[in-house]
Amino acid sequence: MEQQTVYNPVARALHWGIFALVGIEFAIAWIMPDMRRGTLPTGWIAWHIGVGTSILVLMLLRLLWRLLRGAPELLPGPVWQQRLAGLVHVLLYAGFLLLPLLGWINASSRGWTVHLAGLVALPALAASGASWGHWMGGVHQVLAYVLLGAIGLHVAGALYHAVIERDDTLRRMWPGRR
Ligand code: HEM
Ligand code: HEM
Repeated sequence: MEQQTVYNPVARALHWGIFALVGIEFAIAWIMPDMRRGTLPTGWIAWHIGVGTSILVLMLLRLLWRLLRGAPELLPGPVWQQRLAGLVHVLLYAGFLLLPLLGWINASSRGWTVHLAGLVALPALAASGASWGHWMGGVHQVLAYVLLGAIGLHVAGALYHAVIERDDTLRRMWPGRR
């Protein structure tokens, strides 16, 4: 594979598209009603499921694309910073694949049919009423906030490179550059 210096256009489009959807998804999570026994998956809850399952599919495409096409090497810098950046990238990939799956498991255990993007019915990942599925709802919430922290660290790193180091880190992920 040829040496890459910038993220390719597909990787950049997926990075910023998923970023926008994740922002929308957290906003929906905060305005949707609390879920109790007997709550129906309508209104904002349906939107949460539709957007969340779309994020899952885009993350799968993104992982596949990255495995097929690779990514540029991290720019030179202190080893601890490179390790931390790499670790946060792995956490974000794994986390945003796992998080929607946990939500899906919880939704199945509530007896709901999960629709991809509100359109395509997906199979149940847990039996209706399964207590482990109920617990996964709690794990889903906690993981969502852990990932919000990871995004904070990731953005702090990106801004550090852009403002203090003034290197190419942010530019090579920015949309539009060849
Ligand atoms: C990246 C995608 C997702 C993010 C960032 C996310 C985020 C969140 C957050 C922050 C909450 C907690 C809301 C609160 O504090 O009151 C929540 C709850 C919930 N989400 Fe998601 N979610 C995602 C995907 C999904 C998917 C795909 C589903 C279902 C297919 C889902 C189903 C649920 C359910 C059922 C709850 C309530 C859990 C409970 O109270 O037991 N989520 N989500
Ligand atoms: C939902 C929010 C975000 C997620 C899940 C996320 C995830 C990731 C991941 C997994 C990578 C590794 C590269 C790859 O895709 O293979 C990456 C790279 C990058 N991200 Fe994000 N990101 C988010 C938001 C942001 C924001 C808001 C910024 C800027 C302020 C940003 C700036 C960057 C930069 C500059 C890189 C390239 C780093 C390098 O050159 O090594 N990201 N992001």
